[in-house]
Amino acid sequence: MKATVTVRKASSEDVEKLYHIIQGYAQQGIMLPRSIETLHQQIDTFVVAELDEVLVGCGSLTRLGPDLVEIRSLGISEGYKGQGIGGKLVAFLEGQARSMNIVKIMALTYEVAFFLKNGFTLVPKEIFPEKVWKDCIHCKKQYCCDEIAVLKRLD
Ligand SMILES: CC(C)(COP(=O)(O)OP(=O)(O)OC[C@H]1O[C@@H](n2cnc3c(N)ncnc32)[C@H](O)[C@@H]1OP(=O)(O)O)[C@@H](O)C(=O)NCCC(=O)NCCS
Repeated sequence: MKATVTVRKASSEDVEKLYHIIQGYAQQGIMLPRSIETLHQQIDTFVVAELDEVLVGCGSLTRLGPDLVEIRSLGISEGYKGQGIGGKLVAFLEGQARSMNIVKIMALTYEVAFFLKNGFTLVPKEIFPEKVWKDCIHCKKQYCCDEIAVLKRLD
């Protein structure tokens, strides 16, 4: 039988699994770490993907301004990549942005090809003054950020 992927809003019971996915990528320097405490505080901003009821991916949406949200903490567990799960999470997050009447969705990423496939375009980071000091202060690469900015308009 074909495996079923479900995307839903996260709940506090998911925190430990979210922590492990994010921590794995944070240790590789490709995602900002999130503590268990922060995940509990921000759980309403997270969504999760389940494959046959096993939690295999996550992502979150942060509001940066009146018409702009950022995708953060988007990660698929090793062994489950390349099956369309990341794409489903992005589509779900876009739906959430639309329901908030937000027309621009962005991400800072090393996975440029993935975002281009999902309809984003490359943009200069400098067009996001909202982004600059809000979260980056927690990043080791604050003064040498090498992530690429991508943006999609939802209107
Ligand atoms: C980036 C990531 C979320 C993508 O999730 P995924 O489930 O593997 O991606 P999907 O299977 O939905 O891929 C969708 C499309 O993008 C393509 N794609 C995915 N990752 C790609 C990559 N690294 N390079 C090129 N193409 C890629 C797939 O081939 C697929 O194309 P198709 O629909 O024509 O087959 C996942 O690889 C991941 O967790 N990476 C590590 C963490 C990370 O860097 N997250 C981004 C933070 S912003």
